[in-house]
Amino acid sequence: MNKKVTIIGAGFVGATCARRIVEKDLADVVLMDIVEGLPQGKALDLMESSPIEEFQAKITGTNDYSETKDSDIVVITAGMARKPGMSRDDLQKINAGIISDVVKNISSLSPEAIIIVVTNPLDIMSYLALKVSGFPSNRVIGMAGILDSSRYRYFVSEKLGIPTKQIQTMVLGGHGDTMVPLRRYSIVNEKPITEFLKKEEIDSINERTRKGGAEIVKLLKTGSAYYAPSAAVVQMIKNIFSDIHNVLPCCAYLNGEYGLKDIYFGVPVKLSSRGVKEIVELNLNKEEKEELQKSAKAVKEGIEKLNIC
Ligand code: APR
Repeated sequence: MNKKVTIIGAGFVGATCARRIVEKDLADVVLMDIVEGLPQGKALDLMESSPIEEFQAKITGTNDYSETKDSDIVVITAGMARKPGMSRDDLQKINAGIISDVVKNISSLSPEAIIIVVTNPLDIMSYLALKVSGFPSNRVIGMAGILDSSRYRYFVSEKLGIPTKQIQTMVLGGHGDTMVPLRRYSIVNEKPITEFLKKEEIDSINERTRKGGAEIVKLLKTGSAYYAPSAAVVQMIKNIFSDIHNVLPCCAYLNGEYGLKDIYFGVPVKLSSRGVKEIVELNLNKEEKEELQKSAKAVKEGIEKLNIC
């Protein structure tokens, strides 16, 4: 039997995730949205591409939660996307209501699922999903670090004129303006990035990475990024289904790791068929630890505003 992935929210991120999943034949997909006709239309359009793209996976569009029953993974993209001038925090109030409603519905129908949260503000929505679902924390994960690290990699590759395959990067912390791109863990052809770029050049790439989401919002004017975010979600799904335990930066629940407790935060993890298998603790210097603490403080403030702790 094929794996089953439900995607809640058939907007730009949700529909692009659906397309990437079926085109890779990773799983059958249920695309769910509150807008009538939207998920059904996108699902039908995608299915009509299957003879050309030669995929076997099935995609169903629905407004009815019962179709999501017994999913292996539920990806939550439902919510409002950030508008120009709107911070991730501005979104929190609106999206918290949506996430609570969605998670109540999916957790009873798919009690063994792994939840991947994409809706922003990501760290806070992941925390909310954990509390509302009552799932163990290994089965509620946020998507952010893979996206942020991918943006960083692309910017380094663009600057140096070398393929992204030769570059490894690691971006930790909250998925917001306080995220922490780690230059010591940014490697070009197995050498530290500092051998290739000046401090000011790295600082400017760090800053562009931190503002990566806002840069796209400013260009698009009526929406936010979806190609790179959906690619990051699908990399998580591939790792979960294949049980290969690569180290990937994801937003995970911390219970003492990195000196942080009761928080969702971007850290390197190993994923498995049961979700987060292990949180990998990197050896950080004083400056990096301070940056992470600052980022954690911003996330904690957001979590406190949820009024559920
Ligand atoms: N249940 C199901 N779907 C919902 C609900 C709900 N309660 N509320 C809203 N939606 C749907 C909307 O109808 C819309 O189709 O969520 C979809 C969101 O799609 P877009 O507006 O296109 O937003 P998108 O660009 O996909 O971003 C979604 O991901 O990256 C984050 O910041 C981004 O939080 C945003 C999310």
